[in-house]
Amino acid sequence: MKLIKATIENIPLIQDLAKRSWENAYAEILSQEQMKYMLENMYSEIEISSHLRNSNYHYYLIFDEKTNDYDGFIGFENHYEENTTKLQRIYLVPESKGKGLGKKTLEFLNEKVKEVGDNRIILNVNKYNLAQKFYVSQGYKVYDEGVFDIGNGFVMDDFLMEKIL
Ligand SMILES: CC(C)(COP(=O)(O)OP(=O)(O)OC[C@H]1O[C@@H](n2cnc3c(N)ncnc32)[C@H](O)[C@@H]1OP(=O)(O)O)[C@@H](O)C(=O)NCCC(=O)NCCS
Repeated sequence: MKLIKATIENIPLIQDLAKRSWENAYAEILSQEQMKYMLENMYSEIEISSHLRNSNYHYYLIFDEKTNDYDGFIGFENHYEENTTKLQRIYLVPESKGKGLGKKTLEFLNEKVKEVGDNRIILNVNKYNLAQKFYVSQGYKVYDEGVFDIGNGFVMDDFLMEKIL
């Protein structure tokens, strides 16, 4: 497995990987309407290109050299708060889950965060998403929770997690 820095040309690929991952991961958690709304907003070309223009926001594609195919991606924002990087998104397609790729990707993130001098990683995870257990297994702890209005009458009911490096 290797991590490849994503560029503007990779936006359609990121959108495709996100859609495949979300349709599986959030099938039991979010309504079809909410999923469609969030994907269209959070993964629009305008939104992703604005991230890629932000020098602190990085996307990496998770690539499997054995299958010669992409497994997913990670997006994170350095210096989101003082000494803190925010893990904005980590999504694997369903076939690539449970093989240790998520763990390796978070180890890569730890190194990237240390390189820029941050020492804390934060993230939001839906309270009903089993990924929360994945984060716990990788040393993250819940430090708060919140219900966030995301527009159009939809909310996200999240745990806020952190890891101190
Ligand atoms: C969450 C995700 C990134 C984890 O990556 P992964 O490659 O499947 O996880 P790994 O195989 O690296 O597992 C690492 C550890 O987490 C644990 N883990 C992973 N998924 C888990 C789950 N759903 N429930 C409980 N534990 C889990 C594993 O048991 C493993 O523990 P170990 O190191 O003690 O053996 C991946 O499953 C995924 O993309 N899920 C769908 C999208 C999603 O929900 N993203 C997070 C949004 S906040």
